Amino acid sequence: MKYVALLVLGLFIGALGAVAGLSALRQGTPYDDAVMTVMSQQMGALRGMREKNQCDVAEISRRFGLLSAIAGETEHAFLPIGDDAKFTELAGNLRDAVMSARSRQPENCDELGQAMAGIAGACKACHDVFR
Ligand code: HEC
Repeated sequence: MKYVALLVLGLFIGALGAVAGLSALRQGTPYDDAVMTVMSQQMGALRGMREKNQCDVAEISRRFGLLSAIAGETEHAFLPIGDDAKFTELAGNLRDAVMSARSRQPENCDELGQAMAGIAGACKACHDVFR
């Protein structure tokens, strides 16, 4: 009887472990990390264009469009985070920076660099407080 009880206990513990393992596999990428990763990918790609001195107008505009769309998800991905009002303000500043970069319509690497500076500043301003 004792062995049967131990066997049942062992099976139960094993099943618990399997369930925990499966749910860990299913979790995937947290949305906040995903949003930040996609934005940083765009910034990296834009920086790469400057480093190679290949600043293609259509590609710049496409990347800015992606940045702008994802920046719109910042609060959805992070709130509540504590000081939500401050976070919302800084996320709004990022969107403004992306909008102003787009409206400059950079046509070469120098102009792209100037347009990106404001965006990078907005990234840093929030990271300084919340990251
Ligand atoms: C309004 C606030 C805010 C703005 C604006 C912001 N970030 Fe973040 N970012 C955060 C916070 C908070 C974290 C920490 C998230 C965590 O550790 O889960 C973070 C983390 C990151 C990470 C690390 C992600 C990871 O997987 O740990 C990267 C990369 C990043 N941000 C890139 C950027 C870039 C590029 C921009 C600008 C285009 C930007 N962020 C703008 C708040 C912001």
